[in-house]
Amino acid sequence: MKILLMAAVSALVLLTPAHAADIAAGKAKAAMCAGCHGGAGISPTPIWPNLAGQKEQYLVHQLKMFRSGERKNSQMSPMAMALTDEDIVNISAYYASLSCQ
Ligand code: HEC
Repeated sequence: MKILLMAAVSALVLLTPAHAADIAAGKAKAAMCAGCHGGAGISPTPIWPNLAGQKEQYLVHQLKMFRSGERKNSQMSPMAMALTDEDIVNISAYYASLSCQ
């Protein structure tokens, strides 16, 4: 019985990603991005990129580069500096989940 329980627990641990993204939390946090990147990740102007439907891993990478200063932009860098690792994962999952149509 004890072994069965242990097997069940380890199966659960294996099936649960270590840092599962929280899309709802990402959506809430993305309110601060909507002014430039659009309410649904489609930007209203040519100078701001669309984020909807972009690959999650790519978004995480770009946000971390803006935050570290490896990628610089006067509008984007301060935005990224306000984000935690968790925010970055959640926001990226949110934008990746949106349709780019
Ligand atoms: C004041 C306007 C503004 C706000 C607000 C803003 N951004 Fe940006 N964002 C930009 C601009 C401009 C660029 C293009 C930067 C460049 O040319 O390198 C950009 C680029 C990006 C990129 C890179 C896209 C790519 O294709 O490489 C990501 C990801 C991004 N923004 C995410 C966010 C997130 C997440 C937020 C909210 C926390 C946010 N932005 C808020 C203006 C903004």
